[in-house]
Amino acid sequence: MSDTFAETSSVYSPDHADIYDAIHSARGRDWAAEAGEVVQLVRTRLPEAQSLLDVACGTGAHLERFRAEYAKVAGLELSDAMREIAIRRVPEVPIHIGDIRDFDLGEPFDVITCLCFTAAYMRTVDDLRRVTRNMARHLAPGGVAVIEPWWFPDKFIDGFVTGAVAHHGERVISRLSHSVLEGRTSRMTVRYTVAEPTGIRDFTEFEILSLFTEDEYTAALEDAGIRAEYLPGAPNGRGLFVGIRN
Ligand SMILES: C[S@@+](CC[C@H](N)C(=O)[O-])C[C@H]1O[C@@H](n2cnc3c(N)ncnc32)[C@H](O)[C@@H]1O
Repeated sequence: MSDTFAETSSVYSPDHADIYDAIHSARGRDWAAEAGEVVQLVRTRLPEAQSLLDVACGTGAHLERFRAEYAKVAGLELSDAMREIAIRRVPEVPIHIGDIRDFDLGEPFDVITCLCFTAAYMRTVDDLRRVTRNMARHLAPGGVAVIEPWWFPDKFIDGFVTGAVAHHGERVISRLSHSVLEGRTSRMTVRYTVAEPTGIRDFTEFEILSLFTEDEYTAALEDAGIRAEYLPGAPNGRGLFVGIRN
């Protein structure tokens, strides 16, 4: 956990990992349904797909659905705390340690996903392009790449606030967030309070997400050799980029 935006990191802290599934589930995320939508999109483009790699897989919740669909499934994650939860959730699935910019698993997959808004943690278009090039490098020809973006600049609401409360076992967790526009980024302050039998504690996460444009994502995919289209809307309002490797 960082104390300021200057020190912030996109790699999730143990505190953040600990409450991630409970609080986002209370906010309405349904990882099985999201993964099911991705499976449908892949089915219409590459019905014979047998393998899938989910990069920045977090707690492995999408992998739980993907492993029922594909013979070979793997994840990649940089946060030890998130990775440990993924390993507990899907022990038979390899969860590699790596950065989406420069991982090298040495083998291609039929499908690569980068879901939620992780690609927008990249602070420059050059880094976004490193991610798409690396995804392309791990895709078999004809393979399918799926990237869920953060908001495009015209959709971001400066000063946006939101909140949620999760009741989870013996715990109650609250999450309040405030987001502001700064240049080409959104800066989100997220305050969590966790009430549990041993007491109440709180912590704050600072998140910087780039407001890349639709054209920037599309060009990053196309220049990496992935023919891309943008499908607005599902699964979380921000749509999905779906591409086929040449
Ligand atoms: C918004 S969460 C998304 C997790 C999961 N894909 C989901 O949809 O719930 C972002 C995840 O990306 C991880 N992450 C952030 N930067 C990363 C990087 N450069 N390489 C790999 N993982 C990264 C974080 O630790 C976190 O688990």
